[in-house]
Amino acid sequence: MAFNLILMGLPGAGKGTQAQKIDEKYQVPHISTGDIFREAMANKTEMGLAAKAYIDKGELVPDEVTNGIVRDRLSQQDVLTNGFMLDGYPRNLDQAAALDKMLADSDRHLDAVINIDVEPSVLVDRLSARYICRVCGATYNRISNPTKVEGTCDVCGSHDFYQRDDDKPETVKNRLAVNIKMNTPLVDYYKNQNVLHTINGERDIDLVFKDVADVLQSVND
Ligand code: AP5
Ligand code: MG
Ligand code: ZN
Repeated sequence: MAFNLILMGLPGAGKGTQAQKIDEKYQVPHISTGDIFREAMANKTEMGLAAKAYIDKGELVPDEVTNGIVRDRLSQQDVLTNGFMLDGYPRNLDQAAALDKMLADSDRHLDAVINIDVEPSVLVDRLSARYICRVCGATYNRISNPTKVEGTCDVCGSHDFYQRDDDKPETVKNRLAVNIKMNTPLVDYYKNQNVLHTINGERDIDLVFKDVADVLQSVND
């Protein structure tokens, strides 16, 4: 199955977690702007160092930078063949308009926007309990989603995990505030395009995924 999909939701809503499950089932290229920035920061590239100043404060990286990264990635062959799931992009109306133009210029359209809906009050605790495998990037949670064997990654067997710098409570507060402000206009934007599917993200990960898979099935029929 090939589809052009956006996963949206507040920080910690479960975008990356659901993307991982979609990828296992459908092998669609996963484009997370946050992951791209973290990789650039780890490699200390010029773009990464510039982005770090914003990310450390929980602010958005400027649109020119982010739009350019997405434009490049969307023109690569795997995406042209298999579609994409965008995770964490677009995050404001200007980015949404830029994406519409990128897609229109290459005769593509969105099949679905899945909005993973979670009350902000749940998210601070969720994010402070998140841990990530340093080797393969699989994401876990001390409370809701631990590894099957303590200290060992389910996916790759590594014992090396880390926490994200921007998951510290001080940064999370601002990240949430910034994203909450942008979220409602974006939801309305995609509602008006008739592509929005809102899913209750406050249930077990597998139940959320069942709804995600139902949406993907429905847009492919
Ligand atoms: P990004 O990395 O995208 O961060 P985010 O949007 O804050 O989202 P997260 O990755 O924190 O959450 P998620 O929804 O993926 O949740 P996850 O699945 O991990 O962006 C980081 C920064 O980069 C931004 O702040 C910004 O500075 C910059 N940036 C990125 N994109 C940008 C853009 N377009 N424009 C400008 N700047 C941009 O799950 C979270 C935790 O909960 C995990 O522990 C998981 O195991 C657990 N969990 C998942 N689902 C459930 C469930 N159903 N129940 C219980 N626990 C669950
Ligand atoms: Mg994520
Ligand atoms: Zn791993």
